[in-house]
Amino acid sequence: MKLFRRLGIDLGTANTRIWEAGVGVVLQEPSVVAIGVDDRRVLAVGSEAKKMLGKTPEYIEVIRPMKDGVIADYEVTEAMIKQILRQVMGQFWLIGPEVMVCVPAGVTQVEQKAVLDATLAAGARKAYLIDKPLAAAIGAKIPVSEPYGNMIVDIGGGATEAAVIALGGVVTHQTVRLGGNRLDEIIMENIKKKYNVIIGEQTAELIKIKIGSATKLKRPESMEVNGRDSVSGLPKAVSIDSEIVYEWIRPILDGIIEIIRRTLEITPPELVADIFDRGMVISGGTSQLRNLNMLLTREIGVSAHLVSEPQLSVIKGTGVALENMDSYWRAIR
Ligand SMILES: Nc1ncnc2c1ncn2[C@@H]1O[C@H](COP(=O)(O)OP(=O)(O)OP(=O)(O)O)[C@@H](O)[C@H]1O
Ligand SMILES: [Mg+2]
Repeated sequence: MKLFRRLGIDLGTANTRIWEAGVGVVLQEPSVVAIGVDDRRVLAVGSEAKKMLGKTPEYIEVIRPMKDGVIADYEVTEAMIKQILRQVMGQFWLIGPEVMVCVPAGVTQVEQKAVLDATLAAGARKAYLIDKPLAAAIGAKIPVSEPYGNMIVDIGGGATEAAVIALGGVVTHQTVRLGGNRLDEIIMENIKKKYNVIIGEQTAELIKIKIGSATKLKRPESMEVNGRDSVSGLPKAVSIDSEIVYEWIRPILDGIIEIIRRTLEITPPELVADIFDRGMVISGGTSQLRNLNMLLTREIGVSAHLVSEPQLSVIKGTGVALENMDSYWRAIR
């Protein structure tokens, strides 16, 4: 067994991932913690806790401790990191791991310190931070160190972060608290408004993934979903079609388009010219929304390229930076 272990962590709003130096991605779990309401004791973390969402008795609370890429609940985040470190490291360890955590480019000093403190308190021996957009770009195999402008747009669960990278650093960036979770919420809200039917978060996510699209589909699709009638309280099934889902989610997608435009507006012209040549790269789980690359290409006028395994771009890039700290030291704090 290795004595000195080095880990990269992506604390996402929806999912937490860990990379082990020399190994690769070793853990991927929903960023969800179930705790006892009275004693605040951790009952379950990750997929075990996610299964409890919306189904808990009064004495259990299910918490998502990360919001929009920053810590919303410090104690629970620390407990979550402790638990996932235990899963990776084993129950007992002699020497804590060296850990690199990625944080959104726009976070404040206080938010950065909270991430470092939570990581150290959870048992890390040393902790470093790296900019998330840079990690996403490295993970998407963009040659970040070249003297050219490259654009990466990470569209995750809680937030969308657009950034222009050149010479190994983030030149300009913009973040908006819009991502996949907001798409799920808007679907839930509208189904309640239009059909008086209450559906759960997981059902809304399924609708988005199955029939959601960023452009109008030539051949509309529909699906049957089960929920609860908000008036009678009884189970009720409704048929939802892709056209209406498109109408509901489009305003959120416009918010994402807006911050990509704004990022380009504040970027030096030479770099913008590079981006027009090369296009932009989109990563994050929500980049897989059907036809999103088509919508962005059309609305921004710059071709949007998808990457493979987009949900893993950030953790892969964090891992590469962790394994090559000499090359990326400028971006590491
Ligand atoms: N095929 C798909 N189509 C649309 N959305 C998808 C698809 N697959 C996953 N998603 C969405 O991707 C989101 C999760 O993405 P990701 O894991 O990148 O988020 P995160 O890194 O935890 O969040 P953040 O980076 O915002 O903190 C969820 O909202 C999920 O519903
Ligand atoms: Mg993410």
